[in-house]
Amino acid sequence: MKIVVVGATGTIGKAVVGKLTDAGHTIVTASRKGADVTLDMTSPESIRAMYEELGHIDALVVAAGAAYFGPLETMTPEQNQQSIDGKLKGQMNLVLLGLDYVNDGGSFTLVTGIMMDDPIKQGASAAMVNGGIRAFVKSAAIEMPRGIRINSVSPNVLEESWEKYKDFFVGFNPVPAEKVAQAFVKSVSGGQTGQNYEVY
Ligand SMILES: NC(=O)c1ccc[n+]([C@@H]2O[C@H](COP(=O)([O-])OP(=O)(O)OC[C@H]3O[C@@H](n4cnc5c(N)ncnc54)[C@H](OP(=O)(O)O)[C@@H]3O)[C@@H](O)[C@H]2O)c1
Repeated sequence: MKIVVVGATGTIGKAVVGKLTDAGHTIVTASRKGADVTLDMTSPESIRAMYEELGHIDALVVAAGAAYFGPLETMTPEQNQQSIDGKLKGQMNLVLLGLDYVNDGGSFTLVTGIMMDDPIKQGASAAMVNGGIRAFVKSAAIEMPRGIRINSVSPNVLEESWEKYKDFFVGFNPVPAEKVAQAFVKSVSGGQTGQNYEVY
């Protein structure tokens, strides 16, 4: 399968690329720098340009999407908008603008995160977009044309990101990126749709 991995150079993306490559798929990497295709997922124009450049694909996987972290009491609408533009609209637009490019029986796999189910301080904006993506996936799945499937993966905090985030996630049990990547493989290669795979 020809699979686009958005955010392929990141912590989760690298693990996903490794597993999908091992499984024999052809991977096209996409991100703002250092990838096969240059993409800024916050820009619909950039998304359109990526799909026009690539033509038809079998699957698109997203391991990217910035969200705002900060205390609720001081959060501004502009800060919250960063999450909406980045992780929420960015991922939704990759689906909306990509539908005509995904082959029959293909798939989209998006990314959410544990904070929507197990809240942390300063996580309200990120949790909101995670929940939005989960709801979008569940709902969009029943309208997908031509047998196209859509799922999301909800990772716990990663072992590989633990040093960076451990002060926010006290008491959590981090999971390895390899385990998260396996859920992406399940979404791409399995038969399910409308799922949010929790890797907690
Ligand atoms: N790490 C964790 O513990 C964890 C846990 C749960 C959920 N998540 C979620 O998983 C996703 C990936 O996390 P990560 O830790 O793997 O991130 P990461 O290591 O920071 O990597 C992010 C990847 O996304 C790309 N990217 C960033 N902004 C982009 C944009 N506007 N357009 C296109 N590509 C962009 C980056 O490349 P460029 O900078 O070159 O664009 C990079 O390849 C995020 O949505 C995060 O919220 C992460």
